[in-house]
Amino acid sequence: MSDKLAIDGGTPTRTAPFPAWPIYDEREDRNLLEVLRSGQWGIGGAKVAQFEQRFAESQGARFGVCVPNGTLALQMALNALGIGPGDEVITTPYTFIATASAAIQQGAVPVFVDVDLDTYDIDPAQIEAAITPRTKAIVPVHLAGRPADMDAIMEIARRHSLRVLEDACQAWGAAWRGRKVGAIGDLGAFSFQSSKNVSAGEGGIVITNDEALGEMCWSLHNVGRVRQGAWYQHEIIGGNLRMSEWQAAVLLAQLERLPEHTARRDANARYLSEALSEVAGVTPLPFDERITQHAHHLFICRYEPAAFGGRSRDEFVAALRAEGIETASVGYTLPLNQNNAIRRSAAALTRLGGREWPLADDGLSALAACPNAEWATQHTVWLFQNTLLGDSADMDSIVAAVRKIQRGWE
Ligand SMILES: Cc1ncc(COP(=O)(O)O)c(C=O)c1O
Repeated sequence: MSDKLAIDGGTPTRTAPFPAWPIYDEREDRNLLEVLRSGQWGIGGAKVAQFEQRFAESQGARFGVCVPNGTLALQMALNALGIGPGDEVITTPYTFIATASAAIQQGAVPVFVDVDLDTYDIDPAQIEAAITPRTKAIVPVHLAGRPADMDAIMEIARRHSLRVLEDACQAWGAAWRGRKVGAIGDLGAFSFQSSKNVSAGEGGIVITNDEALGEMCWSLHNVGRVRQGAWYQHEIIGGNLRMSEWQAAVLLAQLERLPEHTARRDANARYLSEALSEVAGVTPLPFDERITQHAHHLFICRYEPAAFGGRSRDEFVAALRAEGIETASVGYTLPLNQNNAIRRSAAALTRLGGREWPLADDGLSALAACPNAEWATQHTVWLFQNTLLGDSADMDSIVAAVRKIQRGWE
């Protein structure tokens, strides 16, 4: 094979695609046809309730309430915790916008605490400095499927009487010291959107071990109804956040495949980490024995331009994709503390009684700096989860592509 880089017109390291996502078989077919033929496509069907029970149980929770997506799961969970105007919610800036926008949609202000660059999760050592009398909850994100340090987070929450909502939207099956995530805090929110390891295109669930919170979520997702009440009895204001039977039909089948898929992703992630540890400048995040199950939604590496002739991360990812590693991505390109929509909302919510952030020159709130998250948005490479469903030859091809680029840019 010529050593000319594919991005410069050379031959790509590989041309075969990585395993396609989503994966489905006759189980999805059968479940969907069952829903179709039952005529129970929404209310009255059995599949949503069945999935709620199975998924909650698989994560070690007693209650589960399915909703249309992960964004609404987070917002409903904050609503169930009574979080609203004037409140502050501590979370991380290196995540999908929904983690923070859910708080804003409840009228609360997200307060960002920087990530630890060994985990890309919230740095527990920095949480206490961000707590004020307005703080009501901590929302850790188990980013990439890697559980955040739930021992430290729960201990801080207990000491300050804060609630904990786990954003487990990337962490199906993940476990921290033997305990499945989402059921460690007060509530846990999951997503089943297209890219996710368990997917119905769209979908979400909130799980909990707290019966009162479980009932509150049920009511909030069902226009304020009460479970044993009359059809037109609405005791609180809720939305219509019910999942359809179609989604649950697909999810029941997807969940059956999760353990085997997680095991395969884990084996490949360990193999790839080991192989990449021999290559300077592309550093997979270290494993931590307290993480008894990583969900591997993303395989994350830190990228050092100096090891690649000073080329930027964006150039590196473009070169990697050209070499046939088409599942490589630059990931999040802006930490949420620098997102103008969030800064504008923080400025507006300040007027409703939230924390007074100083205004920057552009008139929007200057939120606390998060240098690690800012660094991460410029120096991180992601591989999507389906990459890890390949075999060891697929992993070897990633390493070969990285080495080839490194030689090309020396
Ligand atoms: C960390 C995180 N939080 C929240 C969400 C929102 O989920 P959804 O896309 O299902 O609304 C996602 C996924 O997109 C996510 O990755």
